[in-house]
Amino acid sequence: MSNAPILLTGGTGQVGQAVLRHAEKRGLDIVAPDRAQMDLTNAQSIAEMVVSESWSAVINCAAYTAVDRAETDAELAEQVNAVAPAILAAETAKLDIPIIHVSTDYVFDGTKNAPYVEDDEVNPLGVYGRTKEMGENAVRTLNPRHAIIRTAWVVSAGGANFVNTMIRLASERPEISVVNDQIGCPSSATDIAQALLSVAEHPHAQHGTWHFVNGGEASWFDLSARIFANMTQRGLTTPDLHAIPTSQYPTPAERPRNSRLSTAAIQRDFGIIPRHWHDAIDAILAERFEN
Ligand SMILES: NC(=O)c1ccc[n+]([C@@H]2O[C@H](COP(=O)([O-])OP(=O)(O)OC[C@H]3O[C@@H](n4cnc5c(N)ncnc54)[C@H](OP(=O)(O)O)[C@@H]3O)[C@@H](O)[C@H]2O)c1
Repeated sequence: MSNAPILLTGGTGQVGQAVLRHAEKRGLDIVAPDRAQMDLTNAQSIAEMVVSESWSAVINCAAYTAVDRAETDAELAEQVNAVAPAILAAETAKLDIPIIHVSTDYVFDGTKNAPYVEDDEVNPLGVYGRTKEMGENAVRTLNPRHAIIRTAWVVSAGGANFVNTMIRLASERPEISVVNDQIGCPSSATDIAQALLSVAEHPHAQHGTWHFVNGGEASWFDLSARIFANMTQRGLTTPDLHAIPTSQYPTPAERPRNSRLSTAAIQRDFGIIPRHWHDAIDAILAERFEN
């Protein structure tokens, strides 16, 4: 990678914020325009930003991530998750700039009985997953210098995510029920950011699709149990936790039952070894409660 700056989209989001933090720690020059400076629903604004500097790479962390709202807001979801990546990929390709594009486990339908590998057939269950699949396809087609990194179940100390929801509910409710029949790999935004930057910095890596999630697997119930056990150790009050099936927690968008992603390829190709999700969650809770 050249010494030119990286262009980051979604710098105010969970993963984007972690990318910014870690790029600075690595001494990388990185620019993260906000929505006012680069609106991803505006093709001209995207194109102007891409040509404004000789970027070493573009990391696309921006997305329409409201999975349930997407069901009734398909046009905007498609604009941000599919059309914007297509424009980013086409504009970067013209200038021979590599693009690192973040995608999701929701491109799969969750019916496989093992962790998904990169070339498993996709079959998204809802609008969010369908628009993310369209975004992947556009990036693949339009810029040969691409790395698509699929991740899942993103959590961090800041921002709206499952960990912070559990912490909030712990102080509001005596009991809580959490689904135990969806399994996946909780993934720290910090760890995803480090993986994205390692891929961006890799000299000859930018052509393909890889999965990055933390190690091990869990249901949402398991994740809640880990969070509450950690909080109990800190002397904090936690609610009684009950396991329920997905059928008792209906949502507008159907979720894949199996969201596990195999990380064998990113380990092999980049030497990126994800830590276990237990360690990642404990680190997030330490950041949350000790800072
Ligand atoms: N969250 C998960 O559990 C999860 C799971 C699997 C994969 N992923 C993928 O991981 C990536 C990062 O997700 P995240 O959780 O970090 O997302 P996030 O916290 O929801 O952040 C989304 C980012 O996209 C930006 N954005 C949305 N619409 C925009 C627009 N029209 N113009 C400019 N910026 C816009 C937001 O800006 P504002 O702050 O201005 O809104 C924000 O910075 C995404 O590709 C997502 O699909 C996430």
